[in-house]
Amino acid sequence: MKEDDGAPLDKADADEYASWFKALSDGTRIRIVSLLAKRREPMKVGAIVDAVGVGQSTVSHHLKILAEVGFVLAQHSGTSTLYQVNESCVTAFPSAADVVMGRPAPPRTCLGVSMSHKNIIDKYSSLARTALDGAQVTDCEPRAFADGKFGAGGYVKLDDLPEGAARASLGCGDPVAVADLRPGDIVLDLGSGGGIDVLLSARRVSPGGKAYGLDASADMVALARRHAAEAGADNVEFLLGDIENIPLPDASVDAVISNCALCLSSDKTATLTEAFRVLKPAGRFGISDVVAHGEADPAERQRVEAQIGCAVGTLTTHQYRDMLSAIGFGDIDITLTADHGAGIHSAIVQAIKPG
Ligand SMILES: C[S@@+](CC[C@H](N)C(=O)[O-])C[C@H]1O[C@@H](n2cnc3c(N)ncnc32)[C@H](O)[C@@H]1O
Repeated sequence: MKEDDGAPLDKADADEYASWFKALSDGTRIRIVSLLAKRREPMKVGAIVDAVGVGQSTVSHHLKILAEVGFVLAQHSGTSTLYQVNESCVTAFPSAADVVMGRPAPPRTCLGVSMSHKNIIDKYSSLARTALDGAQVTDCEPRAFADGKFGAGGYVKLDDLPEGAARASLGCGDPVAVADLRPGDIVLDLGSGGGIDVLLSARRVSPGGKAYGLDASADMVALARRHAAEAGADNVEFLLGDIENIPLPDASVDAVISNCALCLSSDKTATLTEAFRVLKPAGRFGISDVVAHGEADPAERQRVEAQIGCAVGTLTTHQYRDMLSAIGFGDIDITLTADHGAGIHSAIVQAIKPG
């Protein structure tokens, strides 16, 4: 039954809204959120402590709870951590209250779940600008980066890439390590971010080859171009555009790679169909992504997805296989590489376009 038929709110939505209200069921946390929402800029813990007038350990405890539900985003800058309000929540939280009170409101967009394409790209543009300023960035729980499951820690071999390219790495694996790139290949990286995998690929396909990066954030493209200049890479090109609508001709690339961007696509069928279109016959598809596998409580799974920044939900391994196969890919192989809990894993997904 639909909500406008008089049915209560869907259980998953209700559980999610309950977690938001619970996170705000404390006066100090409300004061911290209101401070960050008014300042609209990253703040150090010390500055928050001064403004709200409670001890540092108490503020850190509250910030952790607020970050877990996504109200607050944390980013590293040198040895300190900066906190800022999650802009997506500024609009989503009031609409959640409207929905609970039976008033029509736009879909929820607060945690990663169901973030709009624009919100996703705004988020990554903001991270790119932070990285351009020389700071460390993370797009999910900083802990996941610290233990090497995300970011530059997940690479087998980083060569001597520019420091900024490694620092801006927001991936969930090392697609280049399994891409079997050869000199002369044309390779395309979907959602190329700060360009780490494009630069690594460019070296593998030289001489004679070329690496393209594609990203919908102009700030990310600018960041990647800076890293390419620092690396002295002359066989790379960064394109601005959506991975659901790749601005390259049919059958023009030998390999499609990607690192933690498919899980952000709101139309994964379109993205995979486009990857198939631009691949040459016998072309290789080899990406790192976040997938769901096995049984898990849906609410817990959604919480983990949100924590690790999967903005529009993951595909299950079965859905991935079915989708790739329906599009025409063969030799499909999915290898789970890191366990994030609740059935959510990083994985390498490989397939071949028939020759
Ligand atoms: C998690 S980051 C990964 C960046 C890079 N692959 C890396 O490993 O550091 C995802 C990137 O995909 C881009 N992105 C997300 N959705 C996109 C879309 N639909 N089309 C193009 N780029 C997208 C974001 O701007 C961001 O740079």
